[in-house]
Amino acid sequence: MAPGAVSGKSKVTIVGSGNWGSVAAKLIASNTIKLHSFHDQVRMWVFEETLPSGEKLSDVINRTNENVKYLPGIKLGKNVIADPDLENAVKDANMLVFVTPHQFMDGICKKLVGKVNKDVEAISLIKGMEIALEQLSEATVGYRENKDIAENWVQLFTTPYFIVTAVQDVEGIELCGTLKNVVAIAAGLVDGLEMGNNTKAAIMRIGLKEMKALSKLLFSSVKDSTFFESCGVADLITTCLGGRNRKVAEAFAKSGGKRSFDDLEAEMLQGQKLQGVLTAREVYEVLSYRGWLELFPLFATVHEISIGHLPPLAIVKYSEYKPRLSLVCKL
Ligand SMILES: NC(=O)c1ccc[n+]([C@@H]2O[C@H](COP(=O)([O-])OP(=O)(O)OC[C@H]3O[C@@H](n4cnc5c(N)ncnc54)[C@H](O)[C@@H]3O)[C@@H](O)[C@H]2O)c1
Repeated sequence: MAPGAVSGKSKVTIVGSGNWGSVAAKLIASNTIKLHSFHDQVRMWVFEETLPSGEKLSDVINRTNENVKYLPGIKLGKNVIADPDLENAVKDANMLVFVTPHQFMDGICKKLVGKVNKDVEAISLIKGMEIALEQLSEATVGYRENKDIAENWVQLFTTPYFIVTAVQDVEGIELCGTLKNVVAIAAGLVDGLEMGNNTKAAIMRIGLKEMKALSKLLFSSVKDSTFFESCGVADLITTCLGGRNRKVAEAFAKSGGKRSFDDLEAEMLQGQKLQGVLTAREVYEVLSYRGWLELFPLFATVHEISIGHLPPLAIVKYSEYKPRLSLVCKL
């Protein structure tokens, strides 16, 4: 039985219902109906919107069992209940799965103060993959001390086509999931500039090195081995080959930097959110505040390109005039 379970069974609520949020709902719901320690029903908080048909998204999800906007063509499982009322969605839950674009988390957490059960456990899904079609994929659950809690989450997510591993390195896993989106922007720029696979591989290698160095500078507890888990190098590869950050950055470079990322996001993603550009700005602020900009030329350059201070081509030029990270800090 999960720690803190109500009436002996854990109740799961998913806070978020975008593309990855809907995939998570499907995965979890397929497990809760099989596992006795969980309530069958999975509640999914939906940021309500009106569809072009005039219907509310949450009504359509409950009627069709499909998130027609963010995960069309995939049945979520009849035990998934869409709920547009955040407070109501979380009130009985003792396991919360947070999966909204990160810019909305602050507002959501403020609304949740005093509204969740005292013994609630929570997990943040910082990564996602093309698994809705039930093709083999992996994920990593980070935990601090209590391996039993981590294993409970592993049990909730694992399916024959989705392999989940628990790793004792919360910060390392969080930072992998966050920083890889910045590297994916760089990879997309290289694609848009049609510079070929060798250049893209070099950018990914330098990006991974900067991911590891920044994570370790920020948190000395971060483990090298985390970068070899699925949250590290594997997620970096998948994001740089096929993700939405890569795709929009490619279009940005093809436009010669003349179209803004905001315009391209609205045009190309139909409501889905781009995380890499926002993350690049946040990373830039941290680097600038700590006086580390020169140590992380790839991260800094991605931000400077995204705000129009440098042309897209600068993504392959920075190393010529900025010091190399390996000369400055031991990795
Ligand atoms: N989908 C993936 O494959 C994938 C990959 C990597 C990481 N992730 C992570 O998962 C998280 C969620 O991504 P997603 O793919 O489920 O979402 P998404 O980008 O597909 O959809 C955007 C979501 O944001 C909601 N939204 C819009 N305005 C909002 C507001 N003001 N307040 C709250 N919500 C609002 C929308 O209703 C929608 O559910 C992100 O942190 C993302 O980095 C997802």
